[in-house]
Amino acid sequence: METQKIISVELTDSDLSEQIKVVTKDCHVRAENTELMLAYQRGDITMEQYKLLLCSLHEIYQALEEALDSNSNHSCVAPIYFPLELARLESLEKDLEHFYGHNWREKIVVPAATKRYVHRLRQIGKDNPEYLVAHAYTRYLGDLSGGTVLGRITQKSLGLKSGEGLLFFSFPGVSSPNRFKQLYRSRMNSIELNHEDRKGVLDEAVRAFELNIQVFDDLQKMLSEMKSETKSDMPSKMERESTSEKLHMTGCTRHLTTHSKLAQGELHTHTHTHTHTIRTLKKPMTEFGSNLNNFSFPQERS
Ligand code: HEM
Repeated sequence: METQKIISVELTDSDLSEQIKVVTKDCHVRAENTELMLAYQRGDITMEQYKLLLCSLHEIYQALEEALDSNSNHSCVAPIYFPLELARLESLEKDLEHFYGHNWREKIVVPAATKRYVHRLRQIGKDNPEYLVAHAYTRYLGDLSGGTVLGRITQKSLGLKSGEGLLFFSFPGVSSPNRFKQLYRSRMNSIELNHEDRKGVLDEAVRAFELNIQVFDDLQKMLSEMKSETKSDMPSKMERESTSEKLHMTGCTRHLTTHSKLAQGELHTHTHTHTHTIRTLKKPMTEFGSNLNNFSFPQERS
């Protein structure tokens, strides 16, 4: 579906795509080092973490995609408007239905930080559509980069069957994430921005990362609160693991010993990256119905 022929462009220091990468470098590292993302990199994400993450992502993408749709003709949005290739909302809804059932809308919970993020997206959708590129970049290019790897880790950690509750990570309209990222960067660079607006976009990108970091931190806080509440309610570990599906999943993931070669250094070398996972399972892998070939690994990183 990548209809545009990708022209190889030489990036210069003044290109928006380069500047945005430079100004967000430090907060990217901080985002990677949040407890939630570290759990991902260790390969020990839990079902509770993933479900809560999906709830927040749903709210965020709903607001982001509404803002992009309603400003799709704006000169700063039109070049980076790729709903067919990138839109995540529908996938998130299906994933949520998979985990929470048909009445998932009544069940989803989001922390205060997610509400702040959503508020900001709605506000700029109304008042500063030229800043939307910063938010679209932060989420979509992130999803097309580390996100692919996170999909595989989620599948492996939770022992999910191919595609089950994992549609968020899959981009059927993007055959090559790296080529698509190149196209996206060249489109970003074609946006005409005066000095002040450009500065505004760069500041907004840093803010977008900050908002994501706050969401991850708040999610983690919510999880520890949920855990301590559950602990005080539950009389014994045996009962806990046999009476609830939610807690059964925690029990399963607790038995996983996972070592991942997703060390930050490796991921940032721009070279071919493999994930190698050693597991100690109480059950054989097949019982978890694992199909590890569902997500394609980019062969090279741009
Ligand atoms: C486990 C956590 C993460 C890992 C391992 C990771 C890894 C990566 C990798 C390997 C790249 C490609 C780097 C390159 O092409 O130079 C990348 C790019 C990117 N990531 Fe992450 N990432 C993580 C979390 C995040 C988060 C939480 C966000 C934002 C919410 C994010 C946003 C981005 C963006 C926007 C890019 C594109 C950079 C560019 O090409 O300009 N990442 N990430």
